[in-house]
Amino acid sequence: MPLSIAVARERTPGESRVALVPETAKKFVALGASLRMEQSAGTESHFLDSDYADVSMVNGITEAYGPAQLILRVTPPSPEEIAALPEGSVLIGLLKPFEDQARLAALNAKRITAFSLELLPRISRAQSMDALSSQGSCAGYQCGLIAAARCTKFFPMLTTAAGTIRPARVLVIGAGVAGLQAIATCKRLGAMVDAYDVRSAAREQIESLGAKFVDTGVSADGAGGYARELTADEKAAQTEKLAKAVALSDVVITTAAIPGKRAPIIITVDMIKRMKYGAIIVDMAAESGGNCALTQPGEHVIANDVNIHGPLNLPSRMPTHASELYAKNLYNFLSPWIKDGELVFDWNDDVVAGTLLCKDGVTVHPTVKQVLGDA
Ligand code: NAI
Repeated sequence: MPLSIAVARERTPGESRVALVPETAKKFVALGASLRMEQSAGTESHFLDSDYADVSMVNGITEAYGPAQLILRVTPPSPEEIAALPEGSVLIGLLKPFEDQARLAALNAKRITAFSLELLPRISRAQSMDALSSQGSCAGYQCGLIAAARCTKFFPMLTTAAGTIRPARVLVIGAGVAGLQAIATCKRLGAMVDAYDVRSAAREQIESLGAKFVDTGVSADGAGGYARELTADEKAAQTEKLAKAVALSDVVITTAAIPGKRAPIIITVDMIKRMKYGAIIVDMAAESGGNCALTQPGEHVIANDVNIHGPLNLPSRMPTHASELYAKNLYNFLSPWIKDGELVFDWNDDVVAGTLLCKDGVTVHPTVKQVLGDA
């Protein structure tokens, strides 16, 4: 029997992406897999059922998941969706592994083998599978656009018959994948961009995009190329230096994150009080608590005439390309292990082992176990 792969419509509110696009469906079929998809699962990403020539369209999640061995998702499954997963099936998605112990326990109760792409090792070989990067690029781009659309100033310098307009000043805090894309987007729109990150490698990347690095004298390289949490002294030094750059900016975009932890608060209430009237903060870290002390996730709040935006699920605002990239990440992760229509993983492979969340009824990822305990 060929490997049976299933995709259901994403039911998480606000989610408009889909885990399978017509191009990757064709590639899975070429590997000998058979595909079932719930009707209209791609519609919000502007992929019509008729675009999926190689896929059987079925009515409802139970019919889609019923006979499947491998389930592709974007978001973590709800309890009702877990109920529809076949016992012992393989699940892959952005499963928010640190968020919900009950969800993990429910997956283990059904002996689901779950891969969570947030856990993918950030190594060169895995770049083509890196969903955090592909979706981070979408998010950073969207932050730049939100800032430009809300700003009461032009981003570029303009020379007009009525006089010259100075470019807007943008500060980007956190220059990982999303932050670098936000910098590039604001630069393309003509803004003057300053940027800051605690990782020492970020300076060169910021400068290569034509932005100016804000040097706070604090660097905090952590394990695996990520940033570590700052000590109290480092935080104080960072706050003092950054406050000046924040006060000079028309727009501040924040993207700073620490994997598995609440996002660090970098923009304090005091900094907001010193910002220009009408300035804008776009806090991309809203999803994990926010980098700004006054951010309300999913809301727009105004404090001291500063507009603070905490947008959620930014890749969903551009679901066609976000889904295309995400579906390719899934295909690149899975395709080496599909041989003659069968799914056979090498459990010792670094990428497979590093991304594995749970298997055979137990949570196996060490960091998740450390944070959530044995679910
Ligand atoms: P992320 O989303 O975890 O964090 C965003 C940024 O916030 C990071 O650059 C981090 O250094 C920064 N940050 C954390 N705390 C901060 C603070 N207190 N103040 C200012 N900035 C702070 O990061 P992302 O984008 O997922 O990338 C993390 C690292 O992984 C980067 O070094 C990136 O180059 C690397 N990477 C490697 C890949 C590979 O080799 N396959 C693929 C993608 C990323």
